[in-house]
Amino acid sequence: MCGIVGYIGSNEKKNIILSGLKELEYRGYDSAGISVLSNNILSTFKTTGKLINLENKCKDFNSSGFGVAIGHTRWATHGKATEVNAHPHFGESSSVVHNGIIENFLEVKQLLESRGKIFLSQTDTEVIVHLFEENLKIYPNHLEAFKNTINSLIGSYAILLITKSAPDRIFYAKNGSPLLIGASKDEIYFASSSTPLIGLIDRVCYLEDGDIGVMDTKSFDNLKNIQPMGGEKISSQKDGYRYFMEKEIYEQHKVLKDTLRNRILDDDIILDLPDNFEDDISRIYICACGTSYNAGLSAKYLFEREAKIKTDVVIASEFRYADPIMEKDTLFIVISQSGETADTLEALKLANKNNLKTLAICNVDNSSIVREAKYSLLTRVGIEKGVASTKAFSSQVILLWMLGIYIAKKKSLISIEQVRTQVSNIKASIEATKVNACIHDRLKKISKRYLHGHGFFFIGRDIFYPLALEGALKLKEISYLHADGYPGGEMKHGPIALADSELFCVSLMPKHLLYDKIKNNIQELSARDATICIVAQEYNDIADDIVLIDKFNSYMEEFFAMMIVLQLLALEISIRLGNDVDMPRNLAKSVTVE
Ligand code: AGP
Repeated sequence: MCGIVGYIGSNEKKNIILSGLKELEYRGYDSAGISVLSNNILSTFKTTGKLINLENKCKDFNSSGFGVAIGHTRWATHGKATEVNAHPHFGESSSVVHNGIIENFLEVKQLLESRGKIFLSQTDTEVIVHLFEENLKIYPNHLEAFKNTINSLIGSYAILLITKSAPDRIFYAKNGSPLLIGASKDEIYFASSSTPLIGLIDRVCYLEDGDIGVMDTKSFDNLKNIQPMGGEKISSQKDGYRYFMEKEIYEQHKVLKDTLRNRILDDDIILDLPDNFEDDISRIYICACGTSYNAGLSAKYLFEREAKIKTDVVIASEFRYADPIMEKDTLFIVISQSGETADTLEALKLANKNNLKTLAICNVDNSSIVREAKYSLLTRVGIEKGVASTKAFSSQVILLWMLGIYIAKKKSLISIEQVRTQVSNIKASIEATKVNACIHDRLKKISKRYLHGHGFFFIGRDIFYPLALEGALKLKEISYLHADGYPGGEMKHGPIALADSELFCVSLMPKHLLYDKIKNNIQELSARDATICIVAQEYNDIADDIVLIDKFNSYMEEFFAMMIVLQLLALEISIRLGNDVDMPRNLAKSVTVE
């Protein structure tokens, strides 16, 4: 989603901002722009499409000496993805970038228009810069004018503003959208996530909601909660794979071992949680969005069957406004790959306000969700660049599975022997994510049969139902074909009305869980002439197509082996359709607006 980078210093500002924006590129955007203020000249460049267009547009522009600069990648919310709607938005002598949504922008805009201001764009953001310039006429102090501007806004925002009459500083505000400030020797950097700043700064400050201020090269030390920030820039490469998504599918069996690292000792599970963590937990509430929600739903089956703990799972955007009943004996788990998803973050804040024990399962340390949660466990699978989540999903399921067993053991709900069995099952399940080249070849081949039709149903039962949801989500995200996930037994309650030979049913048929039940459900679809693609360990004659996975001894190994098949199937269909696998249309990697 939208990305922000800012810079104060003497190095080539254009290059710094452009390379910072490049680091945020994988998150998804549809236009981009930069403003550079140096030697009393404020220059702004904006384009639609990829950053390469912006680079070309400003290739002859250089800014020597000291100055300030801001840049932005925009994922359209208010107004189409046009050049004029791209950020930065400018007034007579100031320029602004903004992530989030200004909810009262229409009222502010009308007020400003009544005072003669002319608006160029359809965005909510443009009001900020005009209001600031109006306020400058009333408050000669820049910071006071900026604070008054921010205080008139309702909504979520991370804002950077530069203005010609204060050429050595950047004004900033944060509420609900992430923003951080970093410093190296004589330079100050801003960004909406730490990724663009790794290797450039040695200290960082993650701003809190409500922070409003101004920064020059001398004021960084006045910030609260400054932390050291090390690390070298590790630019993630495709390593010979065609897409990041493909690489991320293939590396799961390796990176999932990092999810386990130091958490399994002598066939026991040790998690970095306080000793009495399990006290007062008699039920679990899981809250997340998208793929993370599907991982949560998978965990419900594991928590209830394997760990004997009552569990509810809810989509974060639904939870927030449903006046949920929050009982004190609840462990409230949020799951998020990015740690920045606005709905999940707000749901977490609500749970904290209600004094629940909150725990984040997340892949990004120091993200807003990790910082907000009382406890956190990192999935540790490295940066995920493909917008369609793959390794994030598998790591979330593995970590949640371990968590369930850990709590059950501490509460004496299961025996040491059962813990041992689960640990070996977890290890075997990770092995099951290793891509079998023959299966991948088979998927490359059969994908050509699934490029048309009027839609896909992915069906499964029990924990294979959330996996079916995830398979359908993967496919629709990157193929733009209609796909739905359903519990196998639910088809005859409505969806089966769609069955004909142009309806593709990808059916998950594990040998070790409810085999006969799902077989019946598939037969019902086959009898109505639906085209059936079965994923199973053994040949079956109901199938029009069959993808055989390796032989496994447990349903969770089958779960992870089938997950790989679904991820690869989506990938191969998307490639055949000529889509941008890693950056599919309309999607963003980090969804920072509600
Ligand atoms: C996954 O393929 C999607 N891109 C999307 O559903 C994602 O899982 C969702 O937006 C939640 O993101 P998070 O895990 O970063 O919170």
